[in-house]
Amino acid sequence: MKLHLIAKSKKRTSSEIFIAGIFKNEKISKELQQLETELAAIAAKALEEGRITGKFCESFSFYNPSYREAHEIVLLGLGSRSDYRAKCLRKAVGHLVKMLTARKVKKARLLLSSFTGGENSLADVIEALAEVGILASYTFDKYKSKKEGEAAPQEIILEGILSQGSPEAFQKKIKDREAVAGGVIFARDLINEPANVMNPQTMAQAARDWAHKKKLKCQILEKDELEKLGMNGILAVNSGSVTPPAFVILEHGSSHASKGTVCLIGKGVTFDTGGISIKPSKDMEKMKYDMSGAAAVIGAMGVIADLKLPVHVVGLTPLVENNVAADPHRPGDIIKMFNGKTVEIINTDAEGRLILADALAYAAKYKPKAILDAATLTGMARATFDNHAIAILGNDERLLAKVKKAGEETGERCWPLPMWDEYLDSMKGNHSDLLNSGSGFAGTITAAKFLQEFVPEKTPWVHLDIAGVAWCDSPRYDAPKGAYGAAVRLFVNFLLNW
Ligand code: BES
Ligand code: MN
Ligand code: ZN
Repeated sequence: MKLHLIAKSKKRTSSEIFIAGIFKNEKISKELQQLETELAAIAAKALEEGRITGKFCESFSFYNPSYREAHEIVLLGLGSRSDYRAKCLRKAVGHLVKMLTARKVKKARLLLSSFTGGENSLADVIEALAEVGILASYTFDKYKSKKEGEAAPQEIILEGILSQGSPEAFQKKIKDREAVAGGVIFARDLINEPANVMNPQTMAQAARDWAHKKKLKCQILEKDELEKLGMNGILAVNSGSVTPPAFVILEHGSSHASKGTVCLIGKGVTFDTGGISIKPSKDMEKMKYDMSGAAAVIGAMGVIADLKLPVHVVGLTPLVENNVAADPHRPGDIIKMFNGKTVEIINTDAEGRLILADALAYAAKYKPKAILDAATLTGMARATFDNHAIAILGNDERLLAKVKKAGEETGERCWPLPMWDEYLDSMKGNHSDLLNSGSGFAGTITAAKFLQEFVPEKTPWVHLDIAGVAWCDSPRYDAPKGAYGAAVRLFVNFLLNW
C-alpha cells in the first residue's frame, strides 16, 4: 500500500471514498466544514439525528453523487476524545483498512486532522497509517488460486498534511514506518510458509538473501562447523531431521559502537513434531510457527539496517527441525552442551531450550551489554496470558523494564514472571548437570531458569516467551489469521531507545 501526501492548498485529488474521523459527543470539525461545506452539512444532520454517535469503530457512510471528488463518504467513530489512546488509533486504522479492503476500494482520501486528538498527534496518525495500514492489508495468498491480496487498498491520500510541520519530516516518518512494517511482513511470510518449504536450509538462505538486500553482514554456520564447535544442543534436536541444521549470524553496525553490543537470539524450529515425545495431532500443523522467534530476529535486523540505527547488533538464530525421520535424540540421552554443561533429555518436545542454550552461550564471544531472546518456548505462556502478553523473564530489572516499555510503546505488551531459584530444583539432573524438563508445573518459568544456566556471566538478559502471541487463531485489527510477526516492532523500538 502506498501513502500519498496531498497538500491542503493544492487541488483536490479525486478518489473513490473520502474518510473522516469523528469523536463521540462532538460536532463536525471546522476542518471538515472548511474543506467540504456540503458534505459537512450532511454529516452534521446525521449526527443530529443520531445516525452516527462517534462510538469507537462505528461507521456511517453516504453517497453524494454531486460531490465530484469522492461519491462515497465514510465517517468513522473514534470513541470519546479523552479515551483516544495510541492503541485506539492503531485499531481504528486497522479497522479502516480492512473496511476499504472489503469494499475493494483502491484509492481513498482521508482528512488527517480528524484523526488527531487525545494521545495522538498528527505525526502519530501518519505513523499509524503507514505502519498499521500496511500490516492490516497483509495477506498470505501465494498458495491460493484466487488472490485475496489484490483487494487491498493501494493508496490513501492524506489531506491537510501541510498545515503543520514539514513535509520532508513526515515523509521520513512514513518511510521509517514502512520499513518497520516491511520487517514484520517479512517475518510473517517466513512463518506462514509451510515446513515442507521452510526448513533450516531454506530459511538460512532466506536470511542470507534478506541480509544481502539490507546490507547486513551474514555468516552461516553449517553442520560440520556446529560439530566442531560442540553445539550439541542444536545437533541433538536436529538429529531426527533429514535436513541439516544451520546457525545464522547477522550483524549490523560496528563492534566499536559507543553503546556496546546487543545480541538478539531467536528460536528457529521450522517444525516441532515433539520428536520421540511426539505431540498430539490436534493443532500440530501450527507447529510451523515454532520458528517465529528466529523470524522476528531476522526481520528486525533488516529494519535496524533500514533505519541505520547507531548501534551494534548481532542476531543469532539456530535453525533446526524437531522431527523423528532420521536418528532422533531420545529421552534419556545425555548431551554435552556448547558451554560444557551436560543435559539429560527427559522430553524431546522441550527442544527449544536446547538450541537456545547453545546460542546464548555462543553470544559470549560478542561480550554483549544485553541479550534478548524471543522464542515460542512453552504452551504455558499461552495458558498464562492467552494472546494478551508476551511473558518476559530475565536476570536484570533495568533491562526488563526497558523491554516492558518497548512493549507498551509498540502495542506488543510484555509482562514479567518471577525467576526464583526454587524453580530450577526440579531440573537438576541425576546423571547429568541438568534435565531439559522439570516438574511440569510453572513451565514458562522453569524453561527460563534452564536458559539462565547458559547465559554468559554478568550479562543482562531478557527472555521473551512469545508462544501465546506469535500466531493469530482469528484475525486481529492489524493481522489476518496466521503468523503475527510478533516481537519485530518490539525489538526495533527497544534498539531505537538503546
Ligand atoms: N514449541 C513448543 C511450545 C509451544 C506450544 C508453542 C504451543 C506454541 C504453542 C515447545 O517446543 C514445547 O513443546 N514445549 C513444551 C515443553 C514441555 C515439554 C516441557 C510445552 O510447552 O508443553
Ligand atoms: Mn517442542
Ligand atoms: Zn518447540
